[in-house]
Amino acid sequence: MRYLGSKRKHLPQIEKFLLQKTDHKNIKTFLDLFSGTGAVGFHFKPYYSVTANDILSFCTAVCCAKLSFNTPPEFKGLKDLGDPINYLNSLRVNVEATHEEKNFITNNYTLSASTPRKFFTEENAIKIDMIRQSIELWYVNNFITEPEYKYLVGCLIMAVSKVSNTAGIYAAFLKHWDNRALKPIELHHPILINNNKSNSVHNNDALCAFKQLPNYDLCYIDPPYNNRHYTSNYHLLETIARYDYPHISGISGSRSFTSNEKSLFCSKAFAYEAFDRLINCATSKRILVSYSSNGILQKDEISDILKKYGRPKTFKFEEINAEPYKSKEITKKPLKEYLFFVEMR
Ligand SMILES: C[S@@+](CC[C@H](N)C(=O)[O-])C[C@H]1O[C@@H](n2cnc3c(N)ncnc32)[C@H](O)[C@@H]1O
Repeated sequence: MRYLGSKRKHLPQIEKFLLQKTDHKNIKTFLDLFSGTGAVGFHFKPYYSVTANDILSFCTAVCCAKLSFNTPPEFKGLKDLGDPINYLNSLRVNVEATHEEKNFITNNYTLSASTPRKFFTEENAIKIDMIRQSIELWYVNNFITEPEYKYLVGCLIMAVSKVSNTAGIYAAFLKHWDNRALKPIELHHPILINNNKSNSVHNNDALCAFKQLPNYDLCYIDPPYNNRHYTSNYHLLETIARYDYPHISGISGSRSFTSNEKSLFCSKAFAYEAFDRLINCATSKRILVSYSSNGILQKDEISDILKKYGRPKTFKFEEINAEPYKSKEITKKPLKEYLFFVEMR
């Protein structure tokens, strides 16, 4: 799935860097604290018991679908329907009911919306509404468990990202229809890795997460690095995941987010203090950090904080080449991805 700041392309270098400081066999539990859509947790799942955490609900749902199950959920409460993914894909659009009030996506993110927005074709938007409402109905009527609910919402989010008429983020829609957006939406079961270990997904602010998620062998920290909030860039996926009929505004129809939902790591004024507080309260044995050379925090600031709370002799730093996201980021210097490692006291 396309995602800002995804480390998908850096996975081999991240693993190589980690293995210079430790061995797979020293690590049993891995906490991906700012998991996004789970690319890093997924990569390390064959080796470790993985826990993913992100502040956004849609990220939690996607990680639940990709990471938390070793084998596909059983959906015992839906056995009369057959495979729920096939069932949801085969739902027939009732054209007459398209603009019923409950169809939030159709009523707000299509060209026939009262404020026209070109995020989805009508056919895909109504299908998204119908699928999301079916999943909700199954859940409130106890036909599916909470992990099964999140799994299905995660499958829907991954499918939505493939038919969105955007350049990847939802701050704007494209003027012309992208071919991808004209294809009918289709849900799929994700490819699952069975590591025969317990894996879980959480939806916490990282700054409060260690109380609930203590004592991991390794914590991977990949916070946002600039002032572009994930909340605004992915508002529409968050709304589909929550399906809570929010008040929306502006050209992109964004929901508003409370100050608690906005990341301190995106603020020039608060990022340093937030990073210091995070590492100070970390309870994991080892910490691995990814950060962009184009970020709010300077390399030395991150190094100093890690050495302050960790064991300085175990500290390691490396920089790898990175491409700017979609080449839109104009940078004077070649962009690097910084990697930091430290063992905690
Ligand atoms: C750089 S992305 C992570 C990308 C991910 N490692 C990957 O490879 O796909 C940063 C993530 O941190 C999340 N985030 C921002 N502030 C957070 C916070 N305070 N607590 C938890 N997650 C947060 C964002 O929602 C976003 O998904």
